[in-house]
Amino acid sequence: MIIAIDGPAASGKSTVAREVAKRLGYKYIDTGAMYRAVTWKALKEKIDITKADAITALARGADIEITDLKDTQYRVFIDGEDVTEAIRSPKVSAAVSTIAKIGRVRTALVKKQRSYADTYPNMVVEGRDIGTVVFPDAEAKVFLTASPIERAKRRQRELKEKGHKLEVTTVERDIITRDKIDATRITSPLAKAPDAYVIDTTDKTIGQVVQLIINLVKKS
Ligand code: CDP
Repeated sequence: MIIAIDGPAASGKSTVAREVAKRLGYKYIDTGAMYRAVTWKALKEKIDITKADAITALARGADIEITDLKDTQYRVFIDGEDVTEAIRSPKVSAAVSTIAKIGRVRTALVKKQRSYADTYPNMVVEGRDIGTVVFPDAEAKVFLTASPIERAKRRQRELKEKGHKLEVTTVERDIITRDKIDATRITSPLAKAPDAYVIDTTDKTIGQVVQLIINLVKKS
């Protein structure tokens, strides 16, 4: 069974998706980490992020590995380099949507995402286009939302824990900008699938959201 979890920036997808995967014993796939890893590499190699050909070549050639949640630590590697923390930096966040709107980059990464289904029949996959494009036949689809200010506060807290001190207004502006690019791009924009179950997480705890998803999965 595939559980697709989509939603805008910092809507709580990762935390909730991981917890649902743990509770059900499913494989967890964070597709955002893949776009972030390619972005990190492009910035490291000083490739102009608007140069579609160069970025596409990088995405096609990159070896992206995401360790299983069953391992004690969840890690993300690109070409052997551990980028788990680095891909969450404000610099990567500011550039990732520019790279994610390149259609050929998406094709390369979507292929890899779909290939996981050959190995793992049961997965929780989170992103922006999972229920609409990557796995349109997913048995359970969820679309998480929260007010921009709530999302900004959550992200600011996460960033602070990682040593990045930013004003909440700056974080809010950044996520609104990213959402706009993600929702208006031509190839597979951020969108709610018509058959997705919408959860507004603004006033809900992680536990409540996880339970709502588990209930939905049990029904389907
Ligand atoms: O965790 P956060 O909500 O900040 O974002 P993420 O899930 O790590 O995704 C980072 C960026 O990758 C998004 O803003 C999108 O530009 C892109 N992305 C995408 O285009 N399609 C996906 N399936 C997942 C992420």
